[in-house]
Amino acid sequence: MAKSNIINVNLFGQEIGRLGIPENGIGTSFQYNPSYLEEGNYSNIFPKTGILKKIPQVQLFSAYNNDRFHGLPPQIADSLPDQFGSLIFKAWLDANSRKEITVLEQLAYVSNRGMGAIEFVPGKELPKNIAIDIDEIITVLKEVLATKKSIRQKQFNTDALLNIFKIGTSAGGARPKILISENKKTGNIIPGDLEISNAYFHYVVKLALENKVDFPQEILEYCYYKVAKKIGIHMMDSKLIENKHFATERFDRQNGEKQHVLTATGLTGWDFQNPQHSSYENLFKLSSFLKISQAQIEELFTRMIFNVVFRNTDDHLKNHSFIYDKKRNNWKLSPAYDITYALNPLLDFKITNRALSINNKRNDINLNDVLIIAENFTIKDPKGIIEKVQSGIPILKKLMKEYHIPKKISDIIMRNMVTLT
Ligand SMILES: Nc1ncnc2c1ncn2[C@@H]1O[C@H](COP(=O)(O)OP(=O)(O)O)[C@@H](O)[C@H]1O
Ligand SMILES: [Mg+2]
Repeated sequence: MAKSNIINVNLFGQEIGRLGIPENGIGTSFQYNPSYLEEGNYSNIFPKTGILKKIPQVQLFSAYNNDRFHGLPPQIADSLPDQFGSLIFKAWLDANSRKEITVLEQLAYVSNRGMGAIEFVPGKELPKNIAIDIDEIITVLKEVLATKKSIRQKQFNTDALLNIFKIGTSAGGARPKILISENKKTGNIIPGDLEISNAYFHYVVKLALENKVDFPQEILEYCYYKVAKKIGIHMMDSKLIENKHFATERFDRQNGEKQHVLTATGLTGWDFQNPQHSSYENLFKLSSFLKISQAQIEELFTRMIFNVVFRNTDDHLKNHSFIYDKKRNNWKLSPAYDITYALNPLLDFKITNRALSINNKRNDINLNDVLIIAENFTIKDPKGIIEKVQSGIPILKKLMKEYHIPKKISDIIMRNMVTLT
């Protein structure tokens, strides 16, 4: 392999392995660093879900050569952006007269800016910018998203675009978002790729661009966050910025350290858009496989009930993550995220397929369906949990009023709440 076709994969300051492009150009290859294997520290960073073998030899990955994984082992593909980040990535390359780049080059751009704790070395050096202007970012983002032409022809403000590129391409998901850090003492906001320390709050910020959907999606997500918290679902502290952007503290930046995080898709290679693997049963099985505590299995059950009752149908495998505990060498459930009314209330959907099936169903989930899951995964008091979750419905109604969600929207949402009886 030529040298430029190799990139190191680092975690917790240690080289874990190397990625390469095989000679036939299909997919990628991964080789564990023999000394990482010999020393045996952090041995469970990539649990044995049948993807990576714990062997010193080179392993080839051609099975994941598709739009979802880009030929990478799924654990590494988690470091690449989804729809929104990819769009910004393309815009930035276009603005800089670059066309196609290899997946390894893309990882070099991710460098040490990725979500979670995995880093790619050598990374591409980009100019550091310590200032950030959210309004300017939004102006540029709106233009980038609206333009059908080449970004280069439009001659965007390249500084702003560079900033967006650095802090807007790391997080996954489809909606526009950036990473920022806020100084706990001064309130000063800086780009989210500069600091890890505890002196800052580190946020994922979902931006209100007011372009696609004519109701405040981010404020609605904030209302959902408040209800979920009230019910006892574990979420990171979140707030609204300028009364309109949804900012949630990052669980992959805690105690001044990067946390190693993988999505259910990254851990298993289950494509989050493929219905075949997309079920709560699989998510519970994965959780059991990772030996997460029974209390957390109950938390997962509570999240499932919440998603049914409050119609968060976009509960796919990348909207569920796990965090590695480096002291105990084991995994736990991450705080919940991306919890909201997933459909546009203004559109009349005839069918609303849930991303994760329950008892082989994606629609009209009833009490019996969720009780079967409760039985299979030994949930002690499923009816008590259901009651508790459902007690959140009037709370949501009150919150939507308090945060001025238009009545037309909140009425539709209320009508679509599901009670499991
Ligand atoms: N609080 C958080 N801490 C760390 N990572 C997060 C947090 N919230 C979301 N993420 C990551 O960012 C990605 C996108 O966030 P999400 O809320 O799912 O946005 P979208 O609505 O665009 O799907 C998630 O898939 C997850 O990997
Ligand atoms: Mg999401």
